[in-house]
Amino acid sequence: MNDYAIAVQHKSLQLVIAVSVTAMRRARWILALLQLTAGLRAPVSTKAPRTLQHATLDSTVLSCGASRPKTALSNTEISEFVDTSDEWISQRTGIRSRRVLQPGESIADHAASAAQKALDRSGLDPAEVGLVIVATSTPEDLFGDAANVADQCGCKNAVAFDVTAACSGFLFALVTASQFLETGTYQSALVVGADAMSRWVDWGDRNTCILFGDGAGAVAIKKGGAGLLGFSMGSNGAGREKLALPYNGNRLPLIGGKSATVVGPRAMLMEGRSVYVFAATTVPRVLREALEDAHLTTDDVDWFLLHQANERILEAVAERIGVPKDKFIINMDENGNTSAASIPLALDFAVKSGKVKKGDVLACAGFGAGLSWGAAVFRWEGELLSE
Ligand code: UT7
Repeated sequence: MNDYAIAVQHKSLQLVIAVSVTAMRRARWILALLQLTAGLRAPVSTKAPRTLQHATLDSTVLSCGASRPKTALSNTEISEFVDTSDEWISQRTGIRSRRVLQPGESIADHAASAAQKALDRSGLDPAEVGLVIVATSTPEDLFGDAANVADQCGCKNAVAFDVTAACSGFLFALVTASQFLETGTYQSALVVGADAMSRWVDWGDRNTCILFGDGAGAVAIKKGGAGLLGFSMGSNGAGREKLALPYNGNRLPLIGGKSATVVGPRAMLMEGRSVYVFAATTVPRVLREALEDAHLTTDDVDWFLLHQANERILEAVAERIGVPKDKFIINMDENGNTSAASIPLALDFAVKSGKVKKGDVLACAGFGAGLSWGAAVFRWEGELLSE
């Protein structure tokens, strides 16, 4: 009897599960159909639950700096060795040129130069900087570039470490550093984004090589002042294959049938269209979340500063959040996609060109491999740069 009762119980449980799975499958199918009708490919889910946050972190952005390789590579020059054209690249991406590191040039030196400029403009004493974070996926030294940067900037009392979160890296690093300021562990920090994508792209693959460039940007932040008004961050490893630069090892026989796998050639994997859809759908949401967190609306924002991946992504985001495109900072035309460097590079450009003025509210958003995404809202408290 008991066995029968258990069997019935068991079956009814199975039935419930079967019904709910069917319902879920049907819902997913309808969603996919809607996406197809809208001309989109099924995006990777980015519906991770939001982390609980404080509305404001006790951390103010004081200043910024940038450093790029001198050597520029135009679309026309790329079209000499890859089957592409200036017209295709500029129309599809908004990119016209990018900077490329030359042999012997160091991305860590550019990171240090950007950080030094931010430090000089901040008025902070290098010896009092408690923390240096470098966001990068392509360091000069695989063990990390941050200690090198701290050393070059004379931040002899700072703890320094790298953060890897691809194109979201700078914002993740900014929020991480701000948390240390919020808790009072440190009073000031340097946050750097630096990437040398030209070293890692396949220069024969027209789907990817046309997009990227090299550079570094940095900000100096300190405890107190206006504060980091709001933020939101997320990631979803289920979408990792949409954009990845996976390790690829070559077998090296060692001894007694044992071997190691040592670094071999790498190739970036990117489903461009999927990443595009991911960005165009996720960035509006994460911006809204960060603004909610800051108790602000899009009307309170003076400038939207997004990761500079593709001008069409920025246009799609602008349309979705109902903000005119001229409120977006755009400088990918001369830099390409510089991954973790792109937000601080664009900030430096916007401050230098006089667009961003003291007191302006900026809403920044990064997105990319991981998949990962993040947004942060802050008031620009820096002085106009004199260069
Ligand atoms: O930090 C995040 C990094 N990644 C991204 O942000 C990527 C986001 N995605 C994008 O920016 C766009 O998807 C791309 C710019 C990568 C591609 O633009 P698209 O409008 O999505 O083009 P597509 O991949 O759908 O390709 C359209 C056509 C294809 O030819 P067919 O199959 O229609 O004959 C491609 O082979 O364009 C071709 N194509 C090119 N043609 C000339 C792809 N790349 C090139 C190229 N030059 N460089």
